[in-house]
Amino acid sequence: MSATTHIPVLLNETIEALAVEPGGRYIDCTLGGGGHAAAILDHSSPGGQLLGIDADPDAIKISQARLRAYSSSTLLINDNFVNLQAICIKYDFLPVHGILFDLGLSSLQLDSERGFSFQRDAPLDMRLSPSQEVTAADIVNTYSENELAHLIKTYGEESHSHKIARRIVQERPIKTTLQLARTIEQAVGSRRGKIHPATRTFQALRIAVNQELEHLEAALRQAIDLLGFEGRLVVISYHSLEDRIVKQFMQQESKDCICPPGIPTCTCGHTARLRLINKKVITPSSVEVQLNPRSRSAKLRAAERFTAQAHDEQYKTIEKLCFSVGVQTGGWRKPTLLKKLREAFSTP
Ligand SMILES: C[S@@+](CC[C@H](N)C(=O)[O-])C[C@H]1O[C@@H](n2cnc3c(N)ncnc32)[C@H](O)[C@@H]1O
Repeated sequence: MSATTHIPVLLNETIEALAVEPGGRYIDCTLGGGGHAAAILDHSSPGGQLLGIDADPDAIKISQARLRAYSSSTLLINDNFVNLQAICIKYDFLPVHGILFDLGLSSLQLDSERGFSFQRDAPLDMRLSPSQEVTAADIVNTYSENELAHLIKTYGEESHSHKIARRIVQERPIKTTLQLARTIEQAVGSRRGKIHPATRTFQALRIAVNQELEHLEAALRQAIDLLGFEGRLVVISYHSLEDRIVKQFMQQESKDCICPPGIPTCTCGHTARLRLINKKVITPSSVEVQLNPRSRSAKLRAAERFTAQAHDEQYKTIEKLCFSVGVQTGGWRKPTLLKKLREAFSTP
């Protein structure tokens, strides 16, 4: 697979939502083929910096080659974005002007022999990184029928989860993608509506293998603390479970009180830290979907770091200083500023 085969989704919309500007500092948490990263670097030049993260070592290799022209302003890290904050602290890469999550899989992964697709025969693996222990085959061949049905229902929103789980247990051991796809077809028939009958079960397994929803929730919580004042958080999701997490997170973080309805006085003490940029979700145009059918389920949501607290005057000042020094020096390490920032972040 070549690096050019993943077409970045909602590219112009992403650059606009991130409000990319020259000299800005950005994090791409899902580097993939480096398409969004290249556009961020183009638009943030001169002086822009990008920290790119991907759990998949192949994605890092491909992006390294693609972003070679920008090597002095990029830092590419092979890690899971669940470790976002630790990575930023380790490399002194904070605060930032914008953070992007373009979730899910790249075309490079879907078209690979790593078991993500039911359209190509391969071992049932589905791990983003070879360092992960549990594969899709482990789950398919060791979970009880009830556990499988629950997983397929919860992460695949599959209404035939019980039938599919029963059939899987009868057919075990199941070792390859096509064997699993055939087993699902035997359970529920070969075609239902527009999607292949194995779509939802494959999605469920992939989510479970990579703990996708838990990692997304944890990373969003970390991202908010890394954003400078008015820094942008942009998330592109590809299925309703992810989008629900993003939507609820952004809505909650844009409210001053998150007490349950009906409580007479606020007891939560929550304060808004985000302002929604687009109240309505952004989706690809029909032209984009025609050119890149894999973009069809994409949903983009964006929010801006916001703070109404008195102590944040200090926070804003430090950040302005930090951004300007970062841009002037172009360096990654600014220990004194980092110390001040840590103190500012820890102010209640
Ligand atoms: C849709 S692709 C990104 C494509 C990229 N925006 C581009 O333009 O080429 C998603 C990427 O995110 C990575 N990814 C998914 N979940 C991740 C996680 N929890 N941590 C790190 N990388 C992750 C995948 O390995 C994949 O390469």
